[in-house]
Amino acid sequence: MIEIDTERCTGCMQCVQLCVTQAIDVVGGRAAPSARGCISCGHCAAICPVGAVKLPQYPQWDPEPYTSQRYDVDPDQLLRMMQFRRSIRRFTGEKVSRRQIDKLLQAGCAAPTGSNRQQVRYVVLDEQLPQIEERIFASLARYAARRGIEGMQRRYEDFLQDRQKDTLFYGGSQMIAVLAPQVVDGCLAAANIELMAHAMGLGALYCGFAQCAIAEDAALRAFFGVTDDLQLATCLVLGHPAVHYRRPAPKKPAEVVWR
Ligand SMILES: Cc1cc2nc3c(=O)[nH]c(=O)nc-3n(C[C@H](O)[C@H](O)[C@H](O)COP(=O)(O)O)c2cc1C
Ligand code: SF4
Ligand code: SF4
Repeated sequence: MIEIDTERCTGCMQCVQLCVTQAIDVVGGRAAPSARGCISCGHCAAICPVGAVKLPQYPQWDPEPYTSQRYDVDPDQLLRMMQFRRSIRRFTGEKVSRRQIDKLLQAGCAAPTGSNRQQVRYVVLDEQLPQIEERIFASLARYAARRGIEGMQRRYEDFLQDRQKDTLFYGGSQMIAVLAPQVVDGCLAAANIELMAHAMGLGALYCGFAQCAIAEDAALRAFFGVTDDLQLATCLVLGHPAVHYRRPAPKKPAEVVWR
């Protein structure tokens, strides 16, 4: 629940009007938290002109106030950045630092979640990546064989013979498994992480093969903590890119119906 400093509150009612769950009452011309349905979204604290609202559930929260310079980005620049982002399939092998991964996860945590659940969980495959990648690849080869998908067994065998022939993680140094009760929450977090990786000069690759292979194998599901209540939303391979594109790749225009 939120806390309101009634000494500071000027009774402007902006928080009351903005609260999505009508969880703030008006008492004596001042805002007052009620016990009803607060989802801890923090919009009240974000809008209050005098900083009278606190959310004790976020003890570290102490952001700089809005200035255009601090929080705005040029939309054309942002669009160009999105268009220039690529799925990276050639990595140098150099590890992404813990500090960089912390920053990527901060980007993930900034994503919206349904009802503000904020229940996205991350498993960073780091030191154990070599062994676990091999197990994922093995599971993928079994999965492909069962479905008559050709070529995967050969790719797996090539990888076993020569780790440079890595057509699963492509030499990425880490992999983040993104889990969430609702897959869309995890996917939105992953999209933030991927863009952030690009902005930081890192490379990322959504690895649907890994996701498939983990889903197929009970031991891998247990390793990553996948349960009925915590689904594997996506897997993001990370690393330092060993490829430098010269221009954006083409994409189809939006297919849209206006009604
Ligand atoms: C999958 C998803 C579904 C959502 N559905 C609704 C919705 O139906 N109505 C609504 O008011 N907000 C909806 N939201 C917005 C969330 O409530 C919001 O992201 C959350 O409260 C955090 O607020 P923020 O996005 O401002 O950080 C949805 C968000 C997501 C990611
Ligand atoms: S945190 Fe969100 S839901 Fe809770 S009182 Fe503030 S605006 Fe309303
Ligand atoms: S936004 Fe701040 S000042 Fe305005 S009513 Fe809410 S707590 Fe009071």
